[in-house]
Amino acid sequence: MMTLAPSILAADFSKLGEQITQIEEAGGSMLHIDVMDGVFVPSISFGFPIIHSIRKMSKLYFDVHLMITAPERYVEEFAEAGADGLTIHVEACQCMVDTLEKIRSLGMEPGVSLHPQTPVSAVFPYLDLVDRVLVMTVNTGFGGQKYIEGCTKKITMLKDEITRRNLPVSVEVDGGVNRENMTRILEAGADILVSGSSVFKGDLKGNMTEFLKTIRDYEGD
Ligand code: DX5
Ligand code: ZN
Repeated sequence: MMTLAPSILAADFSKLGEQITQIEEAGGSMLHIDVMDGVFVPSISFGFPIIHSIRKMSKLYFDVHLMITAPERYVEEFAEAGADGLTIHVEACQCMVDTLEKIRSLGMEPGVSLHPQTPVSAVFPYLDLVDRVLVMTVNTGFGGQKYIEGCTKKITMLKDEITRRNLPVSVEVDGGVNRENMTRILEAGADILVSGSSVFKGDLKGNMTEFLKTIRDYEGD
């Protein structure tokens, strides 16, 4: 089943709880949570206190995308904070296998992500260990950028490899996804669409409804 994961990086943090409720009311199932450390990427977003707080008020699936150096240092803390899925970057971690296994052993679904500049084959050695691969389609670290068209072929190559090996791995696409390009991205092989600015800008609930309808229509074809 295809899903939308709205990214709270684009939320109004003075109304975060209210906005998460709107996502639930509109039929959302997943929440994308971008954690940045100012080292792996230039920007700093937020960390454990925010995730702890929203965990108390929401039953959505928490899809945590770690844009931090040496993520192996914090796996337990993210499990305690309430992450359901924990995705680490292939460029950030020197001990991918151990860290992915640890994520699973703590009851979370492991994911691996890669920058737009990294060849998609870099994640192939980890496909047996993950539930999802997150393909970055803008420069990692900031919302509101334009989708990099050259990344579409990476989505297809990844999907082909997963299909060839018959693995239960979802393809998640993150960056610059909007109502206009989402169908092409689904066609390329995406299962999960992350969207920040295009979902949160303007009428959040209305945008959610439109995104989810487009996904359902596409799946119905
Ligand atoms: C960027 C983040 C994305 C970001 C997407 O590094 O990983 O999840 O929030 O935002 P938009 O949809 O605005 O490109
Ligand atoms: Zn993200």
